[in-house]
Amino acid sequence: MGFRVFATCNIGDEALEILRQRGYELEIYPQADPPGKAVILKKVREGIDGLITTLRDPIDAEVFEAGKGTLKVVAQMAVGFDNINRADANRYGVPFTNTADVLTEATAEFAFFLMGAVARKLWPSERLVRENRWGAWHPFLPFLGDEVTGKTAAVIGTGRIGMGMIKKCTGFDMNILCYDPVFENEEFAGHIQEVMDMRHRYGLQKQATSIRYVRFGEALARGDFVSVHVPLLRAGESPTPTYHLFNDTTLRQMKPTAYLINTSRGPVVDEAALARAIKEHWIAGAALDVFEKEPLPADSPLRDAEIEDRCRIFHHFASGTKETRLSVDPNVGMAGRCVQALMDLLEGNYEGDRAKMPYVVNKEAF
Ligand code: GLV
Repeated sequence: MGFRVFATCNIGDEALEILRQRGYELEIYPQADPPGKAVILKKVREGIDGLITTLRDPIDAEVFEAGKGTLKVVAQMAVGFDNINRADANRYGVPFTNTADVLTEATAEFAFFLMGAVARKLWPSERLVRENRWGAWHPFLPFLGDEVTGKTAAVIGTGRIGMGMIKKCTGFDMNILCYDPVFENEEFAGHIQEVMDMRHRYGLQKQATSIRYVRFGEALARGDFVSVHVPLLRAGESPTPTYHLFNDTTLRQMKPTAYLINTSRGPVVDEAALARAIKEHWIAGAALDVFEKEPLPADSPLRDAEIEDRCRIFHHFASGTKETRLSVDPNVGMAGRCVQALMDLLEGNYEGDRAKMPYVVNKEAF
């Protein structure tokens, strides 16, 4: 169809092949590292119709200005889009899309696994074995972990991924405290309560458990695991910004036995405060998949050897399954959804009505 598209990275050969087969003229940035703003600006100025981005690419007024009159869509391969300036996109009337839904379960299960990884000390245990320091079996030496089953999970943000996390916690007989600054999904909570009651009635879990919405302070004060599932919103972007939601003050409100789990966005947590919180035992530990600066800088306080056993760190990997990242089915994979979103816009699906296109984020602009 002759549409010109620049992808800031290879989002998956099979998905890109769909575009090639339809006659798109495709240029893919060849390196694994992101191209940087200057390269993006150059490509956009050259008159591309569509830009495929990931969460590493800064997209703002400068980019939209460069693409004035030509750039018709920014298709982001991620559910989060804090790298895209929404107000600027709206001002320039450029729709942008994301890949919600398809990564919900992968991300939620990763958050769930992080609870076990940090609380059951999987890393210290494996290291003991690998370094040949495994002494005789002993009832409590060299260390013990904290059990996950039956504990209280405080789920901060009950959108798609938060709800996915809650479903998984339910299978581990956990009590659930929900906090969401925007929408309290009482219908979903009611359904989970019914499942909990049924599991208890049939003897599938020993203790009766409950789920309820609470204020942020109560979630912090009572959660054994506090798992973060909010978008990154900076001051001015929302009446309820989430930047540094976890800071010196709020981390001190958590129990000294509690763990913080973050699979949302790094800047939701003040990392310097978190490193202090772990080091000074305000909390038991943390497991993080996202960071204020990615990749995590060599001098990050989170790398402090003193907190290593209680601080698990991963490479922004929560959605990183083969199915979720690469499937070309737009109902299964991020790659498939990303190219479908791009095609919807460039090929004028849904009678060209951008407000009707399911993957467009900034519908308010149309
Ligand atoms: C990953 O962090 C995403 O937003 O998809």
